[in-house]
Formats: sequence, C-alpha cells, structure tokens
Amino acid sequence: MAKICLCLTGKTIARDLEVLDKYRKYVDVAELRVDFLDPDERFLIRRFPELAGLPVILTIRRHMDGGNFVGGEGARIGLFSKGLAFAEADRRHNFAYVDLEEDIKVPSLEEAARTFRTRIIRSYHNLQGIDADMAGKLRSLLHVGDEIAKVAVMPQTFEDVRALYQAARSTADVEKILLCMGHMGANTRILAEYLGSHFSYTAALGEEDFPAGAPGQISPRDLVKLYRFRSLTPQTKLYGIVGWPLKVSSSPEFFNTVFDSERTDAVYVPFPSDSIGSFMNLAEEINLQGVSVTVPYKETVIPYLNSKTAEVESLGACNTLITVPQGWSGANTDARGFSDSLLDFIGKKDFKGKRITIIGAGGAAKAVAAEIFRLRGKALVLNRTQLRARELASPYRFASAALDDRGAEMMNGYNDIIVQTTSAGMDPDLEGDPLDLYSFKGTEVVMDLIYKPERTRFLSRAEAAGCRVLNGRDMLIRQAKYQYSCFFRREYPTRIVSQ
Ligand code: ATR
Repeated sequence: MAKICLCLTGKTIARDLEVLDKYRKYVDVAELRVDFLDPDERFLIRRFPELAGLPVILTIRRHMDGGNFVGGEGARIGLFSKGLAFAEADRRHNFAYVDLEEDIKVPSLEEAARTFRTRIIRSYHNLQGIDADMAGKLRSLLHVGDEIAKVAVMPQTFEDVRALYQAARSTADVEKILLCMGHMGANTRILAEYLGSHFSYTAALGEEDFPAGAPGQISPRDLVKLYRFRSLTPQTKLYGIVGWPLKVSSSPEFFNTVFDSERTDAVYVPFPSDSIGSFMNLAEEINLQGVSVTVPYKETVIPYLNSKTAEVESLGACNTLITVPQGWSGANTDARGFSDSLLDFIGKKDFKGKRITIIGAGGAAKAVAAEIFRLRGKALVLNRTQLRARELASPYRFASAALDDRGAEMMNGYNDIIVQTTSAGMDPDLEGDPLDLYSFKGTEVVMDLIYKPERTRFLSRAEAAGCRVLNGRDMLIRQAKYQYSCFFRREYPTRIVSQ
C-alpha cells in the first residue's frame, strides 16, 4: 500500500516537528530534508526520528538534484554518518530510510544502514526531462536487492508522463518510487498506488516558510481528503479531466466529493496535457472510464471518437468521453448546462421572444448559440474577429458584428440578455473586459460564463448598473451533473446537497 510522505523543509528541527504535528493525521512517513535546515541545526538530526514518532527518511539533497545542499560531498557524507550513527536497538529511534543518490558509493554508510535495518532508497533525479529507458534506469539503480529504487523525472511533454506509466507497468516486480515532477506530473503522485510506488511525496503547502521539496508536490490533506488516497487500490476505477494548461478546475472536487458520498470505488484526476493524442493513448492504456475534456481540446478530441451524440455532431465540440466496448463515445454537456442555468435564472422554459447578445465566437460560444437557436431565441454574435462571428451566426440566421462601436450600437436591439463567453476577465486577467464600449442600462440580464473570479470586471459593471447577473458556476455544476449521468448511465443523485 502506497504511503504518504511529508517533506519537511523547515529551517529548524523544532519547526519541522511543529509542522509534522499539524499534518500528522494525513501522513505515514516524514522525509527530513536536511538540506533545508540551517547549518547549526544539521548537527541535531540524529534524534529526529525519536522526536518525530513515525518512520523518517533521511535525505540531504544536492543542488544538482533539485535540493538545497551546496557543500562538498565530504561534508554531506559526514552528515549522513551523523544521522546513522549510534543506532539503537529500538528501531523507532533510528531513521527508517536513508535516501542515497545512485552515484554515492560509500560502503561504510550502506553498512551502517543495513546493520540497523535502515532501508536504502537509491535515488535518481532527472530535472531536464526523462531517460529514454526509464524502466531500465530503475532496474539499474538497484545495487543490492533490499534497496528501494526511486526515479523522479521532470516531464517536458505529456508523452514523457505516458512513458513513466509504461515504465511502472513493466517494473511491477521492483520495489520502487516512480514519479513525474511538475504540474503535468501531479497525477503520478495521486496514482502512486496504481503505479506501484512505495511513497507519494507531499508538501506542507499552507506553511509560508515550507517550500515544496520538489515541483508539483501536493498537500497531504488534498491527497487524503480530496483524492481519498488511502482507499485507492489498483482496482479503483479511474476518471479524469484533460486540458491545457489546466491550472484551475473545480471538476476534481466535484467528482471526488460525489464518489466519496456514494462510496464509489473511483477517483477523478487532473491530466494537464500538451497533446490530446498522447493523452488519448494514456487514457486507453490506464483504462480511464470517463473523461471531461476542456480547453483547448473540445474540438480536436473529435477524431478520436468511435461514436458521438447528435449534439457533438452539430456543435463540433465534445466535453465528455465515455469508454464503450468499441472505444470512446463523445457527448457534450456544456450546451444543456448553459441553457438550464440561464433559463432557471430568468424563470422561463425557452428563449422565445428574447433578443440576446453573445460575446465571443469560440468553442463555448458555439454551444451557447446552438442552445439559443434550439430554444427559439434571436441573437447577435459579437466577436473581436468579425469573420468568426459571422461564421457562427450565419447557420442560425443570427446577426453578427465586431466588438466595436457599431457592434455596441447594434446591441440596442439585442439587450434582453447578454452572454459573455470569452476568456477576457478570467483569473489572472482581472482587468479584462471585452465589452467596455457598452454602457449597461440596468434592464439587461447578464451572464458571464467565467466563474473565477466570481465577478469579472464585466459582470461587476453590469451589477453596478442594476442588471441581474449570473456567473458560470451554476452552469459548470449542471454540466458536471450531466457528465455524471453520462459516466454512470444514471441520474445525478439528488440527495447530494453539498454541490
Ligand atoms: P473557448 O472554447 O473557451 O470559447 P476559443 O475557442 O479559443 O475558446 O475562443 C476564445 C474566444 O474568446 C474567441 O471568441 C476570442 O476572440 P477571437 O475569435 O477574436 O480570438 C475571444 N477572446 C479571447 N480573448 C479575448 C479578449 N481579450 N478580448 C475579446 N475577445 C477575446
């Protein structure tokens, strides 16, 4: 069973112990990162395992391997010796593990470790990318059979992440720790049990003076509470979201909360991928059961589908993948999510008689325009690039214009409802406002599909003018509930009230 390891990167032993206490209930093992300790504190490491009261890894990471230790090798080996010296018969007072990089070969250290059954983690870090043969690399690390091999690599592309999953599969017989660092690799930390990794390294991210021990580490609390790390097994069904850069998404929280409350043996994991092709290969290899697709892949995912709903066909956009015996089936839940949310807000069953301005002509606008047309509304499409506005509007016989003075003027005939679909104003572009040429009258209903921030500049202006305003959170939740129905072929459970 994979264990959760908290990297202790404080400047003092006392601070490390304080932080360990705070996170103790989420943690099985601690890693004392001696390289982060103040120089004077490094003399005090020997008693740390006894004070910590749980198994501890002794690590003194060099700068070249992503750590903070800049002294010479002699000094580092001296510190290792200090940590392993005076071993006691009560093993809980000794370091349970020592992390020795592949190139350190100091027989006396290894001897000292083995005598008192401190296990050696034989580590290798590649901060520049991955090795061509990661499985071979992993096997080559093991000098002696009782060591645990650790390979941590920094993926440059999602294909690198995929290679790590493949390496894990072909080394099922090896006791190992295998992970991808960085944002793209966070899923390898969540799925440590699936990969057959001994530990998942985590960081006390809430503590200002505790830097992450390596890029991409997540907090132990998130691993336990959000991803239910302790109940994951190799049989747990895998779901996920693919997008790029996928820096923020509420979907993992949504689905994992539902899985938890329904006691479904499943986990939902983010897969930030720079290539939809690489991701689709991985999805098949690790047998993902269902996938949410977000920006920028809603259109480019379509060639990978074996079957699709009529909505995907007509919108040319897919945000939901479901595994079926023939391959992947694609659906689109954005469109219904949007219209349900807005119709509920205005208390109507359709958009009949409503004159609506749509701002933007991208993927999100496509779903919005299709729903307005299906539900009998009339619209004006305004877009920065006028040609795209025209292309979106013409099949529905909607009006179109550029986002300029003339467009703002035309809005006077389409201002019952205004729907903002672009990314202008989305965190971190907090000053962005795609419609600053238009002054709200206060009678419009205004919807912004953005939900982070809760009030974009555009929506705040509308609210200040007296408009009724709605952000994209409700739509997001509704589309996720439809997605749930696609994944599990059953209604979203209404008794889950927390969402
Ligand atoms: P999505 O799938 O999220 O809609 P998209 O297909 O890339 O993403 O479309 C982005 C939309 O936001 C487009 O309408 C784009 O306008 P252009 O067609 O002119 O590119 C619009 N957009 C993005 N940034 C914008 C900005 N700062 N101001 C106005 N419109 C913007």
